[in-house]
Amino acid sequence: MSQINWQSLGFDAYRTRTLVTARWKDGKWSDISESEDFAFHLDPFTCVFHYAFSCFEGLKAFTQKDGKIVIFRPFENAHRLQRTAGFLGLPAPSDSMFIEMCERCVKSNMEFLAPYGHDASLYLRPLLLGAQPKMQLTPPDEAIFAVMCAPAGPYYGANMRSFSGVIPLNYDRAAPKGSGSYKVGANYAATFRPYQIAHEQGYSELLYLNSKTHEYVDEFGSSNFFGIKGNTYVTPLSDSVLPSITNKSLQEIAVDLGMKVEKRPVRLEELSEFEEAGGCGTAVVITPMSHIDVKEVLEEEAVKTVYRYLPDGEVGPVCAKLYKTITSIQKGEIEDIHGWCHEIR
Ligand code: PLP
Ligand code: COI
Repeated sequence: MSQINWQSLGFDAYRTRTLVTARWKDGKWSDISESEDFAFHLDPFTCVFHYAFSCFEGLKAFTQKDGKIVIFRPFENAHRLQRTAGFLGLPAPSDSMFIEMCERCVKSNMEFLAPYGHDASLYLRPLLLGAQPKMQLTPPDEAIFAVMCAPAGPYYGANMRSFSGVIPLNYDRAAPKGSGSYKVGANYAATFRPYQIAHEQGYSELLYLNSKTHEYVDEFGSSNFFGIKGNTYVTPLSDSVLPSITNKSLQEIAVDLGMKVEKRPVRLEELSEFEEAGGCGTAVVITPMSHIDVKEVLEEEAVKTVYRYLPDGEVGPVCAKLYKTITSIQKGEIEDIHGWCHEIR
């Protein structure tokens, strides 16, 4: 039995009991297997290592108030993975295979799922990679689809306090018409260096503008952007941002709460018109922004513009309400009117 301190859990690559795997070879998927051996045993020529033939998903399982175990919107993740796999030329698991593997991962790692009453969940990380040793730049004939999990607490170490962000004008996240809207591993590799610099300067998040003109807000390195203007939830319309399932859910929740929703291009200067701003995603849930700095050169001290929303640490009322509502649905504390929680039986 694991001895997890649910209260102090962060967000990390925690080793659990079982990995759930299927392999693609000769045009078909193998049977699904559950293993306590987490190693993939791959040839060093395997294309995932050289050419980043890799994509992933992130979703969470919860213990609800009445004891039910649920996964939040797993069909959405299955569909997004299928879309990303198509972009990479990798075979994609069907909906039923994706769901079965996620369910088996939760069931065989139950001791890592927090009981009801904690600010913790079981984070599922489905991973799809090209597993064929090859030099040619063509999609591989072999692939591995694996679902792993980790007990997860707040991404930044604390939920519902505000954090600072920076827009680094000398870095872009995704090329115009490139891979920005797909959940490919390579998108994240490109952000590690600016993240390191930003973290050293005390910023928690990087906010990227559209790469072509730097006129519009795209998204954070790990989450979508939203801003609150009066009674309106505003989020960028851009073909370079990941279609976030949390953002999609928050838009529906905002409507349920009587707010207006606008999904449209958001000009950089409009950041000064929001009363609240934040990031949203599975791992972070909602990250309210205390302020967002704009820097011409991230490495240098000079700050070009500051968009200030809140004193450091404080949270605005709309972010607090949205956070409370989505997490209450996930924990089964309020009615799941949209049918987002998929029960594991
Ligand atoms: N944008 C990026 C770049 C992300 O990595 C994530 C995390 O998955 C999101 C947005 C949020 O997506 P979702 O809400 O589906 O987790
Ligand atoms: C998620 O929220 O599921 C993510 O994949 C974000 C991750 C890059 C930290």
